[in-house]
Amino acid sequence: MGNLFAEILMVGYPLPPPMTSKEEQRERLAQLVQMRREEEELAENLKGVDHLIAVMSGKGGVGKSTVAVFLGYFLSRRGYRVGILDADLHGPDVPLMLGVEGERLSVTGSGKILPYPALENLDVVSMSFMLERSDQAIIWRGPLKMKAIRQLLKDVDWGRRDFLIIDLPPGTGDEPLSIAQLLPRRDGAVVVTTPQEVSLLDARKAISFSRELKFPVLGLIENMSGFVCPHCGKITYIFKRGGGERVAQEMDVPFLGRIPMNPKVVEAGDGGIQKVLSEGGEEMEKLFGGIVERLLEVVSGSQAPSGQ
Ligand SMILES: Nc1ncnc2c1ncn2[C@@H]1O[C@H](COP(=O)(O)OP(=O)(O)OP(=O)(O)O)[C@@H](O)[C@H]1O
Ligand SMILES: [Mg+2]
Repeated sequence: MGNLFAEILMVGYPLPPPMTSKEEQRERLAQLVQMRREEEELAENLKGVDHLIAVMSGKGGVGKSTVAVFLGYFLSRRGYRVGILDADLHGPDVPLMLGVEGERLSVTGSGKILPYPALENLDVVSMSFMLERSDQAIIWRGPLKMKAIRQLLKDVDWGRRDFLIIDLPPGTGDEPLSIAQLLPRRDGAVVVTTPQEVSLLDARKAISFSRELKFPVLGLIENMSGFVCPHCGKITYIFKRGGGERVAQEMDVPFLGRIPMNPKVVEAGDGGIQKVLSEGGEEMEKLFGGIVERLLEVVSGSQAPSGQ
């Protein structure tokens, strides 16, 4: 059991049983050479990206995609060139959130996929662009998911970019494992949690997972952190209070900030981001701006935007 776990950590899936014939050994060697070549191609393809940031969580539905999209948006508004890779293969939500659901990706003459330009300085790649229908389900086993993630990193023309933000599905399964294994060691993970114990427990697991794989944790964000009543202004802490900061301290990772519950965030997430930002951009900046600034401090200090 211990060995199997070590193999999974090392190569992403259990190694086949020991080989006997020369032919099998040659085949295995050819596979390893091919894997190494693909890894080199992947590193070469991401060479122009300064910061690689994966957004992950232990528990589902805590706001990863929301955070990925708003971080991407506010970084792009500060003049950084940003790409978002929606690596949630089973539930690709980012295009809907950015109001570009149903669009298609184009391919360059050299066979590279071009990210879809969703907003100024903000491009996106998602499985959702490759599905025939928005309700189509992807039914893939682990190795196929790993292959898909590898291709999204290797075969997409990410070009020159300040940030590539990767929106992951919840937990510590195939997609986060692939990302943590395949990405060159630049930057790392932002972990999102809500303040209640059940989510905090899973956030601890996500942080331990990253540590185990030597994938740095850039910080923790506490989302859905209280609700301000629009009528009386009183704050109700629906999912309790302060747990994210406590876990960040306990696990010794930077606390990037908290985002309260806000009905406009739901509206933005349901495809209305352009409307919400044009009518209430300042309100959204108040929710996400401080987190963007702290993230910038963590990753690069005072690096100047290059997208203007
Ligand atoms: N601060 C917030 N205030 C109000 N609603 C929010 C907030 N953050 C996220 N939501 C809403 O909660 C729902 C879940 O958010 P989201 O899809 O971003 O979570 P997720 O962690 O990516 O989920 P999954 O694990 O399924 O990928 C969405 O409808 C989103 O609009
Ligand atoms: Mg999501």
